[in-house]
Amino acid sequence: MANYVKIFDTTLRDGEQSPGCSMNLTEKIEVAKQLELLKVDIIEAGFAVASPMDFESVRAISKAVQDVTVASLARATYHDIDVAYDAIKEAVSPRIHTFLATSPIHMQYKLKMNEEEVLERVREMVSYAKKYCSDVEFSAEDASRSDKAFLARVIETAISSGATTVNIPDTVGYSTPQEFASYITYLKEHVSNIDKAAISVHCHNDLGMAVANSLAAVKAGATQVECTVNGIGERAGNTSLEEVVMGIQTRKDYYDAVTNVNTRQIYRSSKLISTVTGVSIPPNKAITGANAFAHESGIHQHGMLQNRQTYEIMTPESIGKPAVSMVLGKHSGRHAFEERLQILGYQLTKEELDRAFDHFKLLADKKKTITDRDIEALLANKKVQIHETYTLERFVINSGNTITSTAMIKVKCGNEMIEKVATGDGPIDAAFKTINQITEQNFILNDYVIHAVTEGEDALGEAVVKLHLNGKKATGRAISTDIVEASIKAYLNGVNKLII
Ligand code: KIV
Ligand code: ZN
Repeated sequence: MANYVKIFDTTLRDGEQSPGCSMNLTEKIEVAKQLELLKVDIIEAGFAVASPMDFESVRAISKAVQDVTVASLARATYHDIDVAYDAIKEAVSPRIHTFLATSPIHMQYKLKMNEEEVLERVREMVSYAKKYCSDVEFSAEDASRSDKAFLARVIETAISSGATTVNIPDTVGYSTPQEFASYITYLKEHVSNIDKAAISVHCHNDLGMAVANSLAAVKAGATQVECTVNGIGERAGNTSLEEVVMGIQTRKDYYDAVTNVNTRQIYRSSKLISTVTGVSIPPNKAITGANAFAHESGIHQHGMLQNRQTYEIMTPESIGKPAVSMVLGKHSGRHAFEERLQILGYQLTKEELDRAFDHFKLLADKKKTITDRDIEALLANKKVQIHETYTLERFVINSGNTITSTAMIKVKCGNEMIEKVATGDGPIDAAFKTINQITEQNFILNDYVIHAVTEGEDALGEAVVKLHLNGKKATGRAISTDIVEASIKAYLNGVNKLII
């Protein structure tokens, strides 16, 4: 029988803690709900003890999802484990994930503990976590640089103390596929109680081998893979969820393994993460990059026309990637729009549908044809709703290469209308400075990206800004057929998040 591999998603923990990927509470809940639709087995919702905000988001996610296990990370200390359990206790299926390093370098310099002390701490803390929760995961941090015989003793101790999953991380992305697989084989052969726990792997991508190492471990018998959507994570990132899942599915003949992931939700999950973090997907990224299914060469196109399998090892449909089709326009009614959303697999509440239809109509006034990708972009940008303190009423920009750029922006704030004018180094700078004047705050712009969502003259532009104010950060985004409008709205979106 095929090996069932659990997918443990740590986008909201290891992914979110990487630079430029922070999310606010509303965004985290939206992501967690999408991960539930994707049918991952476990969501690592955060590191509850890290801050009151982290605690709140782990707690809120625990309550927001039902059909998936929710884990919180905890160092191997009483306090961390207490706080982790407090945050996940309302989840339908809670998991405490505790960890301690096992490599000589980490034990000597970071922990200042010897092998016997590490073994004792593992015994004590896994047993302690087990009093709270039947589902306990233990991770041997930096396992891939640990002495194999010692690692086997640690894993045996964790299992005999109650761990139901033992995780073998390649914390610094140092291992190679054959070497990493040999760790799994070794543990299977030398840990007497290994059949009492799931064997998990957690790889980082410092040498670009996180997916290869994870898949090699699956081949050697690992039954859980820890990964993140789009591979976001510390430094060069974590194992990419979509690559591992599609690797297992596409090469079932080789891995003899299955996951429970609904692969048709992969594309949408990837887009959502890119949208909420503002980190774009490289065009040549495996599985979800814009070019992943594009065939440019004549020879390839000819082959594809004869038989798609000549150059296509998986289909765009299998990851839920919408075809570029001209589906709707300004005369399309609500019924057609609703039907299209159903075909694309969206399940919206009536309120969400009303809102989406209003935005669709506004877009249809500006754009001749609305493709499935436009609809995806529209929904990705409008789904994560936040309270809008400031909304754009109108703007006028005066710019050129021989004049100073000037922006006039009028916004609505409650019942009040505020209008200001400012100059800047180009139209966008002038617009952003005007918004700072309106809000009487000095928001700092860290990053600004604009890109086209679809092709063509009237393509939708998506603007993403990263702002900070007094140590708080937010990503703002918006779409429009006018890139200046998209930029202003994205800035206001970021501002509205920061001042909540
Ligand atoms: O990379 C790592 O070792 C981790 C552990 C805490 C699982 O993220
Ligand atoms: Zn990690």
